[in-house]
Amino acid sequence: MDKEYLSGNKDNMKAVTLHEFGGTEVLKMEERQLPEIRPEQVLIKVMALSINPVDAKTRSGKGIAGRIKDQLPAILGWDISGVVVEAGTGTKYLKKGDEVFGMIAFPELGNAYAEFVAADESALALKPSGISHEAAATATLAALTAWQALHHKAKIKPGQRVLIHAASGGVGHFAVQIAKYLGAHVTGTSSAENRDFILSLGADRHVDYKARPFEEVISKVDFVLDTIGGEYIDRSLQVIRKGGTIISIPSGLNETVTEKAKAIGIEGYFILVHTSGPDMQTIASLLEKGILKPHIFKTFRFEEMAAAHQQIESGHTAGKIAVIL
Ligand SMILES: NC(=O)c1ccc[n+]([C@@H]2O[C@H](COP(=O)([O-])OP(=O)(O)OC[C@H]3O[C@@H](n4cnc5c(N)ncnc54)[C@H](OP(=O)(O)O)[C@@H]3O)[C@@H](O)[C@H]2O)c1
Repeated sequence: MDKEYLSGNKDNMKAVTLHEFGGTEVLKMEERQLPEIRPEQVLIKVMALSINPVDAKTRSGKGIAGRIKDQLPAILGWDISGVVVEAGTGTKYLKKGDEVFGMIAFPELGNAYAEFVAADESALALKPSGISHEAAATATLAALTAWQALHHKAKIKPGQRVLIHAASGGVGHFAVQIAKYLGAHVTGTSSAENRDFILSLGADRHVDYKARPFEEVISKVDFVLDTIGGEYIDRSLQVIRKGGTIISIPSGLNETVTEKAKAIGIEGYFILVHTSGPDMQTIASLLEKGILKPHIFKTFRFEEMAAAHQQIESGHTAGKIAVIL
């Protein structure tokens, strides 16, 4: 096999691994063998990756830890941007040298905290040439979640009144931009600190969740994207018009959202983001046209993965976190 992409004559790579669940100290930089690709996969040299709350939850024993507990030691991570260095014999459109980005294998192990990762061609899109790897890596899991919630599930129409909770967050900042693109009137919540950021994304209105309960100042919206969960489900249901829709995304007790909503004539769903090449291609096109602009709160080096996890665990990241290799 032609492996000129490896420096020197080594055929292994650096990866951040997880031998046990716990604090950020359980993330270890180790040497790992390069992944083998299946015919429908490509091998990608990772240039940048991004992390999400689910990365930190899983590291600490929550998130998808139950699914992967028998696969430790594991490599976490799903969101990447990089360069194809090998294409499997069954791939249809990607070839060596292509720049790609996407969310790999979620909610199974993505193995993305590594210098090289194997990914199904069907999970990826070509990275627009004007978008950096760093920015593209952030427009993956969070952007897919926002797109799948607002476009596919809620089918947001022009003129609808939409409330996005944590509109300054990873999912929320994409959701505001997508809701505006779909023609909605958008209210976004966050603390006062992120007010200007949310308005700069195109939101029509900002509500500071620390100043007063949002349900005192918002009413009769058509749609709520609940990114907080827990009591936010009940409180959000109070501000939705009859026949409206709520989509809840934090894992936990959100199965109840459907029942609670139905009881008062509202449609309620919990959704889990899924891998989709066509959706990634839509996101690529929105990035290329400047309709979707990822906001990078902070960029970490690969060696700083523990600090990146600490940042996402703060719950107060504005936009996304990137990690460059
Ligand atoms: N089901 C799925 O497929 C799926 C996919 C993606 C994410 N998720 C989940 O969705 C949740 C959000 O993810 P994310 O990546 O957007 O998180 P994130 O980037 O960490 O969100 C941080 C943002 O939340 C804001 N915030 C914190 N508490 C708030 C409150 N009470 N009201 C309004 N805003 C608040 C913060 O603003 P301030 O600093 O101003 O407070 C901050 O900007 C997480 O639980 C994640 O695991 C689920």
